[in-house]
Amino acid sequence: MALVTAWAPLASLLLLLLLVPGVPSQSRSRCHPQLHRKFPLTKPVCTQPVYNWCSSCDSARRCQTRTECLALWRPQPVSPVSVKLFYEALCPSSRFFTSMVLFPTWALLGDDVMNITLVPFGNAKETQVNGTWEFTCQHGELECELNMVQTCVLYLLGREFPNAFAVVNCMMSAANPKNSLKPCLKIYAPQISMHDVMKCVTGPQGKEMMHENAMMTNHLSPPHTFIPWILVEESRLENPAELLDTVCHLYQGEVPDACKRNTTFHQKMNLLAANLQ
Ligand SMILES: *[C@@H]1O[C@H](CO)[C@@H](O)[C@H](O)[C@H]1NC(C)=O
Ligand SMILES: *[C@@H]1O[C@H](CO)[C@@H](O)[C@H](O)[C@H]1NC(C)=O
Ligand SMILES: *[C@@H]1O[C@H](CO)[C@@H](O)[C@H](O)[C@H]1NC(C)=O
Repeated sequence: MALVTAWAPLASLLLLLLLVPGVPSQSRSRCHPQLHRKFPLTKPVCTQPVYNWCSSCDSARRCQTRTECLALWRPQPVSPVSVKLFYEALCPSSRFFTSMVLFPTWALLGDDVMNITLVPFGNAKETQVNGTWEFTCQHGELECELNMVQTCVLYLLGREFPNAFAVVNCMMSAANPKNSLKPCLKIYAPQISMHDVMKCVTGPQGKEMMHENAMMTNHLSPPHTFIPWILVEESRLENPAELLDTVCHLYQGEVPDACKRNTTFHQKMNLLAANLQ
């Protein structure tokens, strides 16, 4: 009898825990084997109906489904939607698309939702002269230089893609692209210097990277007939204004806020789409 009385408060506490609906994520993260070894219960009883076995860490343990529940609770990794842009630095539609559509969409959705690959080359041509690559560009020598600068910025910043893309966007939206590198670097990528970039631009590294851009562009299938050429998950996006909707539609993860709301941005994109058609 004395034993029953001593257990009563503990039993009612457990009952209370079982009645708490749902499971706060905090208690999931505490669902750890060591913790339970410290407080072994002599006889775990599974009192939950099967659909509630994973409703809390405690019931998972009592119903001996902890491993299975942990697997359920672990968020599944979702790949971001791949977006590839084939463009050239001085092409007005490339400039417009990058600064008015791609950059704002990416800023809204982020790296977890969109995986952007920027390929500055466009309608340029490459030829091999005495063992090194030479390039000629649709909008002249300045465009070749700016394509190369952006290629080198993307290469030098590597994994720091947000900085690299910010620099590229800054150059693509600048009124005077010619002198834009210095201020854009200073604002968005102070970790690399003009010297680093120019060393790459005039050296073999830049040529090597530009040759890769040329190969990627020339191997497009079907070949590009327009610049900017936009691929979303390897399929051509014909109407650039549909980028946001297309990415939102293809993304497999939890719907980002920017996708579900009828936002001002959404409305602007729709207006843009109407004007482009
Ligand atoms: C992003 O795309 C690149 C190029 O296709 C790929 O190598 C990389 O693995 C992708 N990153 C993620 C996180 O999916
Ligand atoms: C290639 O190199 C040779 C020998 O160095 C030189 O005579 C020739 O002018 C070069 N060609 C070009 C197109 O630069
Ligand atoms: C979004 O908002 C616009 C303007 O306020 C409205 O015309 C349109 O019907 C709305 N769309 C949806 C799906 O709610």
